[in-house]
Parts: sequence; C-alpha cells; structure tokens
Amino acid sequence: MKIHVLGSAAGGGFPQWNCNCPNCSGYRTGSKRVTARTQSSITVSSDHENWVLFNASPDILQQIRSFPALQPARSLRDTAIKAIFLMDAQIDHTTGLYMLREHHLPLPLWCHPLVRDDLMNGNPLFKVLDHYCGIDWHEVLLSSEGFTVPSIPGLRFTALPLTSNAPPYSPHRDQPQAGDNVGVTITETASGKRIFYAPGLGQMEQHVWAAMQAADCVLVDGTLWTEGEMIALGASKKTSRAMGHMPQTGPDGMLEWLDKLPSSTRKVLIHINNTNPILDEDGPERRELKQRGIEVAHDGMEIDL
Ligand code: MLT
Ligand code: MN
Ligand code: ZN
Repeated sequence: MKIHVLGSAAGGGFPQWNCNCPNCSGYRTGSKRVTARTQSSITVSSDHENWVLFNASPDILQQIRSFPALQPARSLRDTAIKAIFLMDAQIDHTTGLYMLREHHLPLPLWCHPLVRDDLMNGNPLFKVLDHYCGIDWHEVLLSSEGFTVPSIPGLRFTALPLTSNAPPYSPHRDQPQAGDNVGVTITETASGKRIFYAPGLGQMEQHVWAAMQAADCVLVDGTLWTEGEMIALGASKKTSRAMGHMPQTGPDGMLEWLDKLPSSTRKVLIHINNTNPILDEDGPERRELKQRGIEVAHDGMEIDL
C-alpha cells in the first residue's frame, strides 16, 4: 500500500497568508530552516492506479499537480481519484471539493451523516455542487467490521469516532457528537498492513488507542506543540484541546502516547499548525521528536507499507 502525503499543514497552511509568528516570518525572511506546506490531505492506493483521497483541501489543485499519479491522462477528462473520504466538515478538509466541480460524474464521496448535514446546511457545499457535478454520497459507518469501496481494490476502511470539535457553522460546535470527526484504519487486504490516520484528534480514548496499537504506522494529529500555544502568541483565545487537537507535550499529550507504542510502529505527525515549533528543522523540538523516533510529515512524503 502506498500513502502519499498531499498536504501536511493544518488549516491556513504554512506560511499562513496573514501570519507573522516566528515560523511564518522566519520562512519569509529566510532566517529559519522551514519548509512550506499545503493544507492536510493524503491519498492512498494498493494497486498504484486507483486512489482514494482523504479530505479535499483548498490547495487540492496544487496538490494534484504535484503528484502525477493522480492524472493518468487516459482520456480527454480523467482522474485517478476514484473515491473521496471526508473525516470532518471543516473548511481545510472540504472546500477543495469546489475545485473538482468539472468532474464528468457526481463525485464519489464517503462521509458520516453528521458531516453531510453540516455540508448541506451550515456550509452548504453539497447543495452548491449540485449545480455542477453533484455528489454521489455514501455513508461512512462507524462499525468495527469496516467497509470496502468497489472502485478502490485491495483496501478496507474502518472508521472510528473521535472526540474533536465540529466546525463553527455546525449546530454541535463545542458539543462534539460521535461521527462529526472520524479517524480511519486503512488495511491492505493482501498484506494485512495497516495505517491509522487521524488529523484531528482531541482526546485519547480506549478505542482510538486500540486502533493505534494495531497499526503498522500512525499518521496522527500534530497541530500544536503546547496546550496554550495559540493563546501565548495572542493568535487565539482557545487552548489546543478546546480546538479539538491534543497537544504534543504535557500530561496526556501525544508524545506520551506515541512513546508507549512499540518501536516497530512508524509514528508520523500531520496537520501541523504554522505556529508549531516542530516546523523549525534546526530547533530543539524537532531534535526531541527525532530522539523519540517520531517523524514530521511533509508535502510529498511517501509511506510504503
Ligand atoms: C481545525 O482543524 O481545527 C480547523 O481546520 C481549523 C480551521 O478551520 O482553520
Ligand atoms: Mn483542520
Ligand atoms: Zn504563523
């Protein structure tokens, strides 16, 4: 199974257009060794021909251009994206669907009914797209058996509810419900290899931990380094957890959990916010991750399992 990271940044990307935090200004002045990143999305395939896209970021056109496998050019209008899976209804994971409106058929899309509700009402993207290609919607079931997608041979998907946060335009903002954020285990049926993907993980729970322990690779929420990072910078009034993202450090933080996984598990952080000091390739935080055997996803990263 091949996993290709199309975008590794959190909402806003890196550098963020209006931000002058140490990382964003360090990028512009060249005073820090930091790499630009687009907003979070991955694509996965077992046969290297049919790809499932996880999340549709506002940067999707640039991401498709940067990964030729997604444009096989077999006919006048063509794509290798055979299914789209949305983990939540947030802007950074969904508005790229607008850029796919030229598709010759309704977009083959999988998401939870609560995500669909938010994309029909609070942010009525599905209704707008009905004036273009439309959406061929399929329900993401939160069942431990998982499901397959006929157009994506060789892979099985098991979605699980995550406690994170719904978007500001959702009726359950700050009152998360099971389904408005999901994580997914992708299993290659032939090899049995598994990756667990969760770009928005607000809280560790038993079923999430079990999925992480069962995976060969975890590709998980790397949004913020500290619980108060955005507050300390004056960029937000919210803590990391209130935004639906476990911080890396502190008690019950992501690093504590990743340390408990076997050393054979590949550990990768994704959905990295532009303020996160781990973006500084020469900084002490990046060194600390390296010592712990934790990687930082970058655009174009390939994970072969
Ligand atoms: C999030 O992951 O919390 C959101 O994408 C934030 C945002 O909309 O920028
Ligand atoms: Mn996000
Ligand atoms: Zn910034």
